[in-house]
Amino acid sequence: MEPVTDTFARPLHDLRISVTDRCNFRCVYCMPKEVFGHDFEFLRRSQILTFEEIERLARMFAGAGVRKLRLTGGEPLLRRDLERLVAMLAAVPGIEDIAMTTNGVLLARKAQALADAGLHRVTVSLDSLDDDVFAAVNDVGVPAARVLEGIEAAAAAGLGPVKVNMVVKRGLNDTSILEMAGHFRGTGHVLRLIEYMDVGASNGWRLDDVVPAAEMVAAIGAEWPLEPVESAYRGEVANRYRYRDGGGEIGVIASVTQPFCRDCTRARLSADGRLYTCLFANVGRDLRGPLRAGASDADLEALIGRIWGRRGDRYSELRTAETRESPRVEMSYIGG
Ligand code: GTP
Ligand code: 5AD
Ligand code: SF4
Ligand code: SF4
Repeated sequence: MEPVTDTFARPLHDLRISVTDRCNFRCVYCMPKEVFGHDFEFLRRSQILTFEEIERLARMFAGAGVRKLRLTGGEPLLRRDLERLVAMLAAVPGIEDIAMTTNGVLLARKAQALADAGLHRVTVSLDSLDDDVFAAVNDVGVPAARVLEGIEAAAAAGLGPVKVNMVVKRGLNDTSILEMAGHFRGTGHVLRLIEYMDVGASNGWRLDDVVPAAEMVAAIGAEWPLEPVESAYRGEVANRYRYRDGGGEIGVIASVTQPFCRDCTRARLSADGRLYTCLFANVGRDLRGPLRAGASDADLEALIGRIWGRRGDRYSELRTAETRESPRVEMSYIGG
């Protein structure tokens, strides 16, 4: 099939695959306990795509132009034998890059097997080095050292340089920015500061809680002078900076103050097989139904092509007062 483009001529280049909607953290900006409590109904086993189903869809997406895959969750390492899926995806023709976004807790145990299976790199979320602050964010009492071990194990397994994602929420962990920058300077890992976004419907987002990327860059640059770096590729989400003294790089992801929809080439597949063409979508298109009903490869590719061809999403550029009839999907369901 010919590579498809959407209504703004954006190609379909990346597919983010959520392998589970569950997580062992309860980050207050993502899965607040009041909503994701003991009685929250997660997807049932029968609803979740099998590895074979994911691999088949990945082949169809590669046919439509996808070159990059990213495994996400929830927490992807909660899915048993994930390395088996990685090995299957690594064999899909056309796929050039396979990454994973994880909270790092189970990474020390899994890094080598994932690398051996063909995973290229990992991004690890870590919001503070201060255990009190970090526990207030993850809300399950995990200390930062546990995540740091995961990062080092990943680097040792060849999954680096590791990108470290820090979501910054004012009044929660903005006091940790300089300590995080200082810690990762000179390690080869790349700290990425992320503006807190209004994804989902349960985190109670307010614009006042957002620390603008420019403010974060200024704070770090005042301590260790920075200069901008060219994007590595069109549509790169992070704006990159390097330390003038050779201490390496940081990135900022300014999806609130400097939206990047214009070059957005990302599709998202939920664990139950729905295709979302925007992180802020409120509906996804079911691919599991046709898949389980015996659709042919050609049918599935054509369906994916049609969905992408009609795409007109650019939520972050609009961010208007909404008149939506159904709530947006949660980040834990669609995987960031
Ligand atoms: P690389 O392939 O390493 O460049 O990855 P990436 O930077 O695209 O991926 P990552 O998953 O690390 O993205 C970092 C963060 O950027 C995510 O956690 C989100 O908070 C945000 N983000 C990623 N993609 C999008 C997007 O399409 N729209 C918006 N609004 N935010 C996004
Ligand atoms: N705003 C910005 N980033 C978020 N993430 C989760 N929720 C939000 C939010 N509300 C990030 C996580 C992780 C990635 C999957 O998405 O920290 O790095
Ligand atoms: Fe936190 Fe990521 Fe889990 Fe959300 S999916 S609760 S951001 S670790
Ligand atoms: Fe892409 Fe939607 Fe994010 Fe814009 S808001 S960059 S269209 S996922």
